[in-house]
Amino acid sequence: MRVAIFGTGYVGLVTGACLAEVGNQVICVDIDVAKIEGLNEGRIPIFEPGLEDLVERNRVSGSLCFTTDAPTAIAFADIIFIAVGTPPDEDGSADLRYVLGVAREIGEHLAHYAVVVNKSTVPVGTADKVRAGLGKVLAERGVEVEFDVVSNPEFLKEGDAVKDCMKPDRIVIGSDSARAVRALKQLYAPFNRNHERMVLMDERSAELTKYAANAMLATKISFMNELANIAERVGADIESVRVGIGSDPRIGYSFIYPGIGYGGSCFPKDVQALGRTAGQVGYSTRILDAVEAVNYDQKGKLFELIARHFEGRLAGRTIALWGLSFKPNTDDMREAPSRTLIKSLLEAGAKIRAFDPEAREEAQRVIGEHADVVFADDAHDALNGADALAIVTEWKVFWSPDFAKLADALKEKVVFDGRNIFDPKAVEAAGIAYYGIGRGRSVARPEFA
Ligand SMILES: NC(=O)c1ccc[n+]([C@@H]2O[C@H](COP(=O)([O-])OP(=O)(O)OC[C@H]3O[C@@H](n4cnc5c(N)ncnc54)[C@H](O)[C@@H]3O)[C@@H](O)[C@H]2O)c1
Repeated sequence: MRVAIFGTGYVGLVTGACLAEVGNQVICVDIDVAKIEGLNEGRIPIFEPGLEDLVERNRVSGSLCFTTDAPTAIAFADIIFIAVGTPPDEDGSADLRYVLGVAREIGEHLAHYAVVVNKSTVPVGTADKVRAGLGKVLAERGVEVEFDVVSNPEFLKEGDAVKDCMKPDRIVIGSDSARAVRALKQLYAPFNRNHERMVLMDERSAELTKYAANAMLATKISFMNELANIAERVGADIESVRVGIGSDPRIGYSFIYPGIGYGGSCFPKDVQALGRTAGQVGYSTRILDAVEAVNYDQKGKLFELIARHFEGRLAGRTIALWGLSFKPNTDDMREAPSRTLIKSLLEAGAKIRAFDPEAREEAQRVIGEHADVVFADDAHDALNGADALAIVTEWKVFWSPDFAKLADALKEKVVFDGRNIFDPKAVEAAGIAYYGIGRGRSVARPEFA
């Protein structure tokens, strides 16, 4: 099938590459000239496992191409995806200017039937707005062209995006047009062989499904962080509690890790946007408000532990950070807890030596030049001259260090494990003080020594 994808970011690029891989002709469109130039020269703008090979193979074979030329892409495609960003507006609601901008652009150039598929995460009612915006421009042009607008929210996870796209848990399609659903069934057939993954519903339900999924996942994280804060105070180990509750199949093991708060480009903005949507219809979201409030505090948790250990005297101290991206296997720094920590450490007069396996460039871009922030070449280099180590992102490469070497490298011999990746006993056996999240040690409890 002939496909155009507007927005060549995490979602658009991965979707484009996967659709090309299974035999479609795909044009990815973006307004970012440098991004498109880079992609045409084989440079992938983001780190995502497996993506580079996939893009390169399909680019070279000619089934995937990149352009800033929207009219050509619109003229070419039977199916047009909108996969542009929906960042938070000043009040936290989703800013639809990019989505509606693409709708207008499609209206300006459409000359044949096309299915317009909204893949961006958008508030309930956006498909109607896209339809109206597109239709208005067609009317201004005085042309009559049939089109359908479908809601097809994306559920891929950064770090696993290619796998998620190739083997989705579900393909949610919101539409009441049989013609559009037929086209999408055909397009997604290669991803739908093993069992029926397509969930058909009305547009509004599809739009809400995406927010419901992210809000539920964010709730699980804040819930566990709240329990971790209780565990810390009562001398329990949240890691034991986690395994204890996860074994109940009604609860399950996934997504119940305590940590230093959720970040990334989706959960923070989507929880907020759902709250705003609810507010607009006169409903106040008590659970979601609490989820956000817990998360806000939790992002300050590592700094709180570090400041408490050093009794507030952080000026001149050097803290090594392992990990900067908001989660492993991505270089995405949007809303990353590392940013909150770095800001607080710098305000307290500390120096930072940070290492991340993939996010260095992106971190340098978002944090900017700062005399007290050094980006180290590897995990060991980050320890050079450091008083303490903080684990910020649980990249696999950090899980099993030589604790004896770590003890030699650290001046103060203390580790702040924001992701609970270490066994406290192994760390302490090397003579290093250990602080985790909710591990009953952050308040001095001698019986835990
Ligand atoms: N990142 C994720 O993990 C993820 C997962 C599921 C859903 N989503 C949702 O998908 C949407 C896209 O997210 P993303 O992370 O891929 O965003 P992104 O910021 O990585 O990419 C968006 C791209 O759209 C481009 N763009 C803006 N206006 C354009 C226009 N008029 N024409 C063409 N391109 C244009 C931007 O230049 C940018 O390259 C958002 O609504 C997001 O909430 C994201």
